[in-house]
Amino acid sequence: MSRVLFASDLHHCHMFWHGVESDDRMERLVKAIKDEYEREPYDLFLMLGDYSLDFWAWSTKGCYVNEGKSYTEAFVSKIVPHIPCPSYMIAGNHEQYGHDKWKEITGCERRTAIAYRDALFILLDNYGGDLDPTEHSDGTYTPTDIAYVKEQMATHPDAKHVFLCAHEFDMRFEGEDFKALLREEDRIVALLAGHTHLSAIVPLGEECGGKLLLRTGQFSYSGNIKESRWGWRELRFDDDGKVSTAYITPSSDVVIDNEPSHAERGEQDAAVLVEGRE
Ligand SMILES: [Fe+2]
Repeated sequence: MSRVLFASDLHHCHMFWHGVESDDRMERLVKAIKDEYEREPYDLFLMLGDYSLDFWAWSTKGCYVNEGKSYTEAFVSKIVPHIPCPSYMIAGNHEQYGHDKWKEITGCERRTAIAYRDALFILLDNYGGDLDPTEHSDGTYTPTDIAYVKEQMATHPDAKHVFLCAHEFDMRFEGEDFKALLREEDRIVALLAGHTHLSAIVPLGEECGGKLLLRTGQFSYSGNIKESRWGWRELRFDDDGKVSTAYITPSSDVVIDNEPSHAERGEQDAAVLVEGRE
């Protein structure tokens, strides 16, 4: 058995949410990451964007455009070194850094493909439009690069199970060609994305080949913090070929509706994605 964790919407920034300020929240994130590894090691920690509010169109607006402050940079120096396994970061809609700047800050590309056991994780750049903006904005969605997906799948013919990962898959902006890809490519098992700050398993329907979109929750704020507490999504690969998923919520203390709220570690929104051999 082995497993991979997917986290998103970690949002180290100047905002105060659920009774916890950002530095404190990042300390709790590091502790939770380490505790989870001690409980049961994981092989990869893949992050699907929104480490910051460096670019933001609302409220106090993005601090990178305001004052040149990069919380993504702070996240990379303060948090990433504590992750106890290989990790990778793709950008969210709040990290509209151009390719060179993104690589300079994170050491990562804005997209990549990672082979793992008999699986392939294709990490996409779906907010890749209008990068390096000089005006405040919330990012420009760019539909999934189907040619890139096909190219990566062709480069990894032995990968039995392919997972498409992005900060978001916004089906309003994806075309028929993307739906056809999901219908026709049996190796694509599921999609993983953050952005909504919720944990959920969303069936994309028959026009998408019945594929599931697995939401990766948040470690910042949620419009439904009672049901999607801080956490990350696990993909679990059993030795008999079974692949399953769950959203894991580490033990946490937050404030909800002005009341302290404690929760023990939990798992929710679980599903079997690939049945094991008998
Ligand atoms: Fe977010």
